[in-house]
Amino acid sequence: MDVTGSAATLRAACDAARAHGHTVGFVPTMGAIHRGHARLLRQARHECGFVVASIFVNPLQFGATEDLAAYPRPIERDTAEAERLGCDLLFVPDEKEMYPNGPHTITVDPGPLGDCLEGASRPEHFRGVLTVVAKLFGMVGPSRAYFGEKDAQQLALVRRMAAELNLPVTVVPVPTVREPDGLALSSRNAYLSPDERQAAPVLFEALSDAAERVREGERDADVLRAEMARRIGAEPLARLDYVAIVDDETWEDVKRVERPARALAAARVGPARLIDNLLLPWDGGE
Ligand code: PAF
Repeated sequence: MDVTGSAATLRAACDAARAHGHTVGFVPTMGAIHRGHARLLRQARHECGFVVASIFVNPLQFGATEDLAAYPRPIERDTAEAERLGCDLLFVPDEKEMYPNGPHTITVDPGPLGDCLEGASRPEHFRGVLTVVAKLFGMVGPSRAYFGEKDAQQLALVRRMAAELNLPVTVVPVPTVREPDGLALSSRNAYLSPDERQAAPVLFEALSDAAERVREGERDADVLRAEMARRIGAEPLARLDYVAIVDDETWEDVKRVERPARALAAARVGPARLIDNLLLPWDGGE
């Protein structure tokens, strides 16, 4: 595996791979590689001739009070992991390489979907995400780019960006990887104390209960939302941020679960802000 911090070297390597007829697959990350990232990388390895991963803790997507400085950066372990998982080229730029002229004047506007849920709690977050993802797409030129379903709103926005800006990339969703007790893997789980770690699966439990209630016949989304909020609110170590049930295509709030709908939850558990989501079962399938 080659490692570079240079966008020019990255571009040349991707051009060469394409010239050799390889499909370029791309896995953007902020590092602290865990089994969720491993799943993205394995799928990319399986489907593409040349696999690029990036590690960049993107300041543009962190709010002033968020954990940018504290975000874990175990770069040596990450490099070894990326290599072990079959990555061909690891791009590890510094801030100067990504933003050589300082703050951007041109950014990607995520539109209304960028302002709700995660966007309401983290203003400007998705502008930062889409801007860096667009830049990375421009540098790598991937045919396929892999994003985890755990960050469902991010995934939906990246898909919309690719579709609406006619970017020649297929955005590939990859299922969430969970601990045995249901907790979705996240780099932020590292912030949890043992007690908080025990409490953290409450998000998944609330989402799973909602899915079970739908299976039993409950269709009223307000009832399901109230039950999820109650379940998370009953956990003393969790501070609920939001629960939601949205149409899986439009991301509008639904009144009744009669089409594919996604349940989402966000809560602060100790120092960590955790998010999770589940596609609810519906008559047409899971
Ligand atoms: O999901 C992440 O790790 C980040 O938001 C991403 C897509 C790498 C952009 O910085």
